Parts: sequence; structure tokens; C-alpha cells
Amino acid sequence: MARRVRIAVAGTGYVGLSLAVLLSRHNHVQAVDVMAEKVDLINRKQSPIADAEIQDFLANHDLDLLATVDGAAAYGDAEFVIVATPTNYDPHKNFFDTSYVEQVIDLVLSVNPEAVVVIKSTVPVGYTEVLTDRYPQGRFLFAPEFLREGHALHDDLHPSHIIVGIPANSAFTTELAIAAARFIGLLSEAAEDENVPALTMRSTEAEAVKLFANTYLALRVAYFNELDTYASVRGLDTSKIIQGVGLDPRIGSHYNNPSFGYGGYCLPKDAKQLLANYEDVPQNLIGATVEANRTRKEYIADQVISHVMDVASHGVSNPTVGIYRLTMKSGSDNFRQSSIQGIMKRVKAKGIPVIVYEPMLEDFEFFGSPVTHDLTAFKADSDIIVTNRWNADLTDVINKVYTRDLFRRD
Ligand SMILES: NC(=O)c1ccc[n+]([C@@H]2O[C@H](COP(=O)([O-])OP(=O)(O)OC[C@H]3O[C@@H](n4cnc5c(N)ncnc54)[C@H](O)[C@@H]3O)[C@@H](O)[C@H]2O)c1
Repeated sequence: MARRVRIAVAGTGYVGLSLAVLLSRHNHVQAVDVMAEKVDLINRKQSPIADAEIQDFLANHDLDLLATVDGAAAYGDAEFVIVATPTNYDPHKNFFDTSYVEQVIDLVLSVNPEAVVVIKSTVPVGYTEVLTDRYPQGRFLFAPEFLREGHALHDDLHPSHIIVGIPANSAFTTELAIAAARFIGLLSEAAEDENVPALTMRSTEAEAVKLFANTYLALRVAYFNELDTYASVRGLDTSKIIQGVGLDPRIGSHYNNPSFGYGGYCLPKDAKQLLANYEDVPQNLIGATVEANRTRKEYIADQVISHVMDVASHGVSNPTVGIYRLTMKSGSDNFRQSSIQGIMKRVKAKGIPVIVYEPMLEDFEFFGSPVTHDLTAFKADSDIIVTNRWNADLTDVINKVYTRDLFRRD
């Protein structure tokens, strides 16, 4: 049997936890987080995030996995340290905030400078080479992550591709090329599919792959949303147009379901970061992709507001808008940057009363609006129900529902 590699993973969110579970099938993995409650849950074999396969693997598979808050001990002992901490977009700096990544790197370099640090967090284009200039003694790789929330472990068990980037300015490029091949080997060994395509390239190119891939997805969502806005304004059937467009095999009938806007943790921030990376490089599409989401949310909010006025004109005084779920997609357990929040904000700004049905929210207030876990009361109290994604829960109140989920999927 192959030797167990000692691996530490920093961050037990969607990316870190799925990789920790995946790699602990064949290696000794320590998963580090600053949140003790997440660490405790993992050590009790419970997933802190909603992901059926992570839960199943934690509970039922033979994993060599220990979660800890003691980063120094875990990194001190590891050949590979995988960094999967957040990189939020900082609107003041107009760039990702990479400070959580750097906190981990500072600690790794202080306890184990020879460890190979694999950055899985999404970072600005050029980041790993900047880091290499700043810490020439460090050994850094960048490996973009392509999983989907809710299917995180599934996507890592069945990866469509693996990419690893090596900084061109490192003093250890030969050593890093070997480490990159070993890391690809670790991911391939853990995957359930054979012959997963793997590419190595310069780290700056690998960083560009991640941001261009997510910005393409944002562009595609924005494109079909703009098609829907056009069809709605012109009184045409969006579904027919999208079906017709998608039958061209160059376009395809996937990832084309209209929504209130692209959202989730990654697409909005990654598109903005790519736009910031363009700086003095000529472009139109990247900026338009960022801008299109705002336009779409304004259009949807205007539609909701005009429905409210319509209901009021039929004698309902001060109609209430019910927001059905703050999550981005059905099956998701978080609502980071979900587009419905942008609709809610705009509707509230008009002084329209808003209530929220969100069972994942423990607080009973969200930005000043009441939150309920009681679906029956929510349906009774809402004059219009706004949902980004259709749910069979709403069948009995379909006449009150406003959604653009035309195909009832993704
Ligand atoms: N969520 C996705 O679908 C996805 C997909 C691809 C890439 N990414 C990228 O991966 C990164 C992580 O995303 P995520 O969704 O897994 O984040 P997340 O917020 O779900 O999890 C991050 C975890 O890191 C922990 N953390 C913060 N600082 C730490 C530190 N110094 N040491 C140890 N742990 C620390 C947090 O407590 C949290 O549990 C981001 O850069 C994101 O852009 C995310």
C-alpha cells in the first residue's frame, strides 16, 4: 500500500472539508479551523455544512481525519498544507481580501517552512507570484477548486479536471513541479473516476483559469437573464426562445434557467476580481457581466413593485411581500450573496412591508424584516410571494408566487 502522506487543511468550509474528507481516505489529514464548534462537530463525525456525501463519508467511511483548532501543531507535521480559507471581495480596496490566506501562510512558515502550501482559495490573478516574492523561502502552489456547494464532495470524487499552477519566480520550481505531480496524484487516487484530465501551468495562468471560468458562468447566467428581461418586456415566451436557442449544439440546453441574478459566494466576487485584474487592459464583457447583474435585479425588483401596486389597486391595503427562502438555490444551506437579497433590499426601500420564510436562519429578524419558520403563517400573511427557485411547498399558493424559475431546476 502507498505511504500515507501527512496533509493539513486550513479551513473546514465547503472547499476545505470536502478535500479533507476526500484525501483522508488514503492519507493522514488534520483539518484546521478557527471555529471550535465546527472542529467539534467534525470530530463527532457530523458535517457542519449541508452535504449528503460529506455526512455519509464522515459517518460511515474509514477516514484518517482529525479536526483541530491547533494550526501550529497540524502544519508543523504536514508535507502538504492546503489553504481553503475565505477570500471575500473588499469593496473599499476593489480587490479580494487575502488576509486569511496570509494568516495561515505566516503560521506555516514559522513552524514548517519546507511544507508545500497548496492554495485552494480563489485568489487574484498573479497572487501566488506576489506571495513568492514576499516569502522567497516558501514553497507555494495554486490549485483552483471547481466544486459546487451542496455537491462539494461529489464534485471532488468525480472531478471534471485538475489544475495545478507553479509560480515562475520560485527558487524551488523543480521541487514544485514534482510536488505538483504528487498533488495531482493524491487527488486522482482519491477520485472515483479514472483518467481525470490534469494540467499544470504557471500559477498566474491557473489563477486566471479560475476567475475566467467563474466569470463565464456569470456571463452565461446574465445572458439568459437578459434574454428573459427582453422577452418579458416585449410580451414573448422566454421558455420557447431559450429552448430554440439551446437546440443549437454549440450553445446547448444547460445552465440556461432564468433567475433573479447570478449569486452565491463565488460568482459575484470572482467576476469583480477579474474586472479589477483587467486594470489597463481593454475590455467590455467583463465589466458588462458585473453591471448586468445589477440591471437584472433592478428589473426584477421593479416587476415585484408593480405587482404590489396591482394588488393594492384591487383593494388590499399595504400589501406584504413574502420572501420565500434567502438561499440562492434549492438544496443550499447558505445565502451568501443570494440575488433575492438584492430584490428584498430594493422592495423595502420603497417602504413595502416584507416578511421572510427562512428555516436556516436562527434569528427572527433579517435587516429589520420579520423572519418566520412557520410556512402556513407565511403563506397567509404574504400578499405576493417572491422566490428565486420554485418549490412544491408553494403549490397551494401558486397564484401569489412571483418567480422567473421557468424550467424548475438549478
Ligand atoms: N464555496 C464554493 O463553492 C467554492 C468553490 C471554489 C472555490 N472557493 C473558494 O475557496 C475559498 C473558501 O471557500 P469556502 O466556501 O469553502 O469558505 P467557507 O467560508 O465555507 O469556509 C472557510 C473556513 O475557513 C475558516 N478560517 C478562516 N480563517 C482561518 C484560519 N486562519 N485558519 C483556519 N481556518 C480559518 C473559517 O472559519 C471557515 O470555516 C474561497 O476563496 C472561495 O472563493 C469556494
